[in-house]
Formats: sequence, structure tokens, C-alpha cells
Amino acid sequence: RLLIVDFGSQVTQLIARRLRELNVYCEIHPYQNVTDAFLADFAPKAVIFSGGPDSVVREGSPRPPASVYELGVPILGICYGQQAMMQDLGGRVEGGKISGGGGTAEFGRAWVEPKGSLPLLEGWFHTGREQVWMSHGDHVSQLAPGFEVYGTSPNAPFAVTADTERHFYAVQFHPEVHHTPRGARLYENFVRLAGFTGDWTMASYRDEAIRIIREQVGDRRVICGLSGGVDSSVAAVLIHEAIGDQLTCVFVDHGLLRLNEADEVVTMFRDNYNIPLIHADESELFLSALEGVSDPELKRKTIGRLFIDVFQKHANEIDGAEFLAQGTLYPDVIESVSFSGGPSVTIKSHHNVGGLPEKMGLKLVEPLRELFKDEVRALGRELGLPPSFIGRHPFPGPGLAIRCPGEITREKLDILRKADAVFIDQIRRHNLYDDIWQAFVAILPVRTVGVMGDGRTYDFACALRAVTSVDGMTADYYPFSHDFLGETATRIINEVGGINRVTYDITSKPPGTIEWE
Ligand code: XMP
Repeated sequence: RLLIVDFGSQVTQLIARRLRELNVYCEIHPYQNVTDAFLADFAPKAVIFSGGPDSVVREGSPRPPASVYELGVPILGICYGQQAMMQDLGGRVEGGKISGGGGTAEFGRAWVEPKGSLPLLEGWFHTGREQVWMSHGDHVSQLAPGFEVYGTSPNAPFAVTADTERHFYAVQFHPEVHHTPRGARLYENFVRLAGFTGDWTMASYRDEAIRIIREQVGDRRVICGLSGGVDSSVAAVLIHEAIGDQLTCVFVDHGLLRLNEADEVVTMFRDNYNIPLIHADESELFLSALEGVSDPELKRKTIGRLFIDVFQKHANEIDGAEFLAQGTLYPDVIESVSFSGGPSVTIKSHHNVGGLPEKMGLKLVEPLRELFKDEVRALGRELGLPPSFIGRHPFPGPGLAIRCPGEITREKLDILRKADAVFIDQIRRHNLYDDIWQAFVAILPVRTVGVMGDGRTYDFACALRAVTSVDGMTADYYPFSHDFLGETATRIINEVGGINRVTYDITSKPPGTIEWE
């Protein structure tokens, strides 16, 4: 496996992505944790130093332990990583001046030209020069002994450097970002030089994960909270494959799910996969507790609190359970290097069972800890979960509660479920589902006047919401055609009693959020 030492670059995760795409298994660890003992234990086959915001010229700036250079494995330093390597090995780095005459700082697009030939760059230059993304204030001013220059750019005479004897490579730019369009080639060459064969596939991950789960759990029992979402479902199916009926799933139905959703979850896991499943239908409890509550945060808190109580109650019925399974993903786990105090990754604690393991004296089983979201989907496919299920849009823990601004009533929830089902059906019929990150209906807390046939109506208005996004952090509204919107509005008003007006929400995020509450 390959070790990525994180010096705090914003794009360190992208290095991992590029390597995973090459079927190479890698892990990111913050530089503070990479000690001599850590290195000896991890025994990497190759090491990459990430970029970072600090300056190696600064006294006390982050550095890898000296023993990393004695491992005898290939090392690739990127940007800050290049400078750290040079400084450590006897070269010189100078603080940058922002451009102007003889300026050395470089931000944005640049072109690198080859100098001599280097296996790392094989097949990279196809037009004589290659576009790269630079983002550095400091620069190397003198190479460490053993290094030579293999690529230059107008502002970076040491854009690509290497000590081919020791297989140490160092580049000034960021090959992992989109703006270095052919950067993946450098990673491909690097891992090939390091002897990786690219045999890390989902099939091998699955076998390895099953082995680890069996080893960890032995003959003891595991509880898994199933939400119907992709992560917990993939975790449950994987664990079931490893330990069979030692696993029991608890599916808390808070009465805020979409049309037929609870039945679908129960059918799929109980009937198709034969996974022991407790369907905790607690909708009465949740809906009564939510009566009269219209503040969004109070809705979330009420649901979160009840969820934990209910989960615990049902989990206690499972004799001798010692483990709690969770669908934690890699982005939640990576401890990012932070120069501003707190960690930069926020873990949504709202609706998972955070805090429960300690409270119940359970140990955690987290078989997806090493995976990115799309890798979880790939694993789901490997495990035979239906494609339509794997590609499902995200659905928030508090469910329809936050799509029903104002007070929640059973009547409004019923209307909302039907309208939402029509909207999603429209999207599927028009083959748009996979182009959209998330789509749903929100029922508005206003009634409006309409006319149907010869009569006056006084019913609810609703808003359609559909956005594109890559991570849910920013989003844009989906540009449906007017025909599509018109047809959908007509269908909702004709097919769903209780709604007589349909609007389309065209707010982006920011300034809006995806959900209405
Ligand atoms: P917002 O509305 O903040 O949503 O733009 C971003 C993503 O997070 C989901 N979301 C939630 N998920 N509990 C959850 O589990 C919540 O309280 C919650 N609020 C929003 C939302 O559906 C979108 O995918």
C-alpha cells in the first residue's frame, strides 16, 4: 500500500482519488502522525508528500521524519512536499515574492517543458509542453545532491526534479487537480515505478473486508442501524455476507419516509437478502412528539433524540450484541491537517447513532471506513444490490419533516408523499434521474385559491426542488424544460388531492440550501 503524508493541502483527497482510480490502495495520514514507529508499522511500498499552506523556510514548519528517506521506497513530493524534500536532503528553498521582475510566486495555469527524459514523465508530453496547475509562494533555489531537473516552467526552473538513483521525485505543481489535465499520467508512472500492479479492485476489497469483519467479530453478535440509504445498506449486506445471522438490522421507521419506502426497505432486506430485520414502526411516537413543532432545529432535535431512544430500546432486545455497525465513509474519517484550530471535516452527527456505542457499551464495526462514496456504490454493485437502489438520491435523516415547512400534520405528509412520487416518476420517465443530485417536493404552509371544473378550490401550494451538485456543499437548480415543468404541474394537480398550485424553486446553494429547512 501507498502512504500519503498530508501537509494540509486543500486537495490532498484528490491524490487518493487519482490513485484509487488506478486501483492502487492508499491511505492519507496527517504528517503529525507519521512518526518513525508509524512508518515501520505501515511499511509503505511508496510515499507521497502532499502540498500544504505552510512555508518550509519557516522555523518549525511541518516535516516528515528523516527515516522516511531510509525506507528505500519511491517518494513523490508535490509542491510543499517538493520543497520539504529538497530542504531535508540538502537543497535550498527561498520564500516567494509575488510576481513582478524576477518574481517567483506562481498561482494558476502554467506550462511545463521537458528537459531530458525521465520515466515519471513517460507519455506525458504529447505537444512539447504540458499544462499544469501551480500554487506556490516559495520555490526551490538549489537542488539537493543527487537531484536533476527534468522539467521547467517560466517561473519554476525546478518544476520537475528527480534523484533517479533513489527514486525520489519532486514536482512544483499539482498533478492531482483537474487543471493539470493529464496529471493522472504522472501518478500512473509513479505507481508503476513503485511496483504496484493495480490489482486493488472492489472484488479484492470485498474479500478483505469480509476477512477483517470475521476476525473482529468472531462468533459474537452485531447490530446495524438501517436507514434505507446506500451506505448503511451496503454495510449491512457486506456484514451479513461475512457473519450471516449474527447480524440483526434495526430499521427505525419515523413515519417521515417517502411513499412505499418502508415496505421497500423491509422487502429488500428481509425477503431478498434474508437479513434478520426489526422494523420498528414508531411513526405514532414521532408524529405525536412533532405536533405543534414548526421550528426546523427543534424538529431535528426532537427526531434525533427519539431516534436514539427508539434504536436503543430495540437494540436492547437483541441478546448479547457486542458490536454496532455503521456506514462511516472515508471523508468522515480523514483527520485533516488544520492550521486554523479545529478539523476542517464536519461529521454530520444529527441522524446517525453518534454517541450510542459508548452509551450502550458497544464496539464499532465500520467496514466502509476506507471508501469514498462512489467506491461504496461500486462495492454495492459488487454485492449485487440493484443499480436503481445504488443510484438513489440522498435523503435526509429527518425525512419529510424538513420538507414540510411549518407544522407537520399527517394530512400534509400524505399529500406531500403523493406529490413527491409523481415528481420522481416524471423525472424517471424523462430519463433525468441520474443527471440530478437530489429532487423532491416541499409542501408549503399556505393554501391558495384555484378553480377546477366550475368550482373554487382552496388547497396547498407546493414547490418542486431539483439540484445538481457534486457533494451537496454547493448546488444549482436543474434546468428543466418548460414542457417538463408544465406537464409535471398538471399531473400533480390532477393526481394529488389537496394541491392546487405548483411552483419551481430556482435558488442555487449558496445562498439557499438544498432542503427548505
Ligand atoms: P442542505 O439543505 O444543507 O443539504 O443544503 C445538504 C445535504 O444534506 C442533507 N441534509 C441532511 N441530512 N440530516 C441529514 O441526514 C439533516 O438534518 C439534513 N439536512 C440536510 C440534504 O438532503 C442534502 O443532501
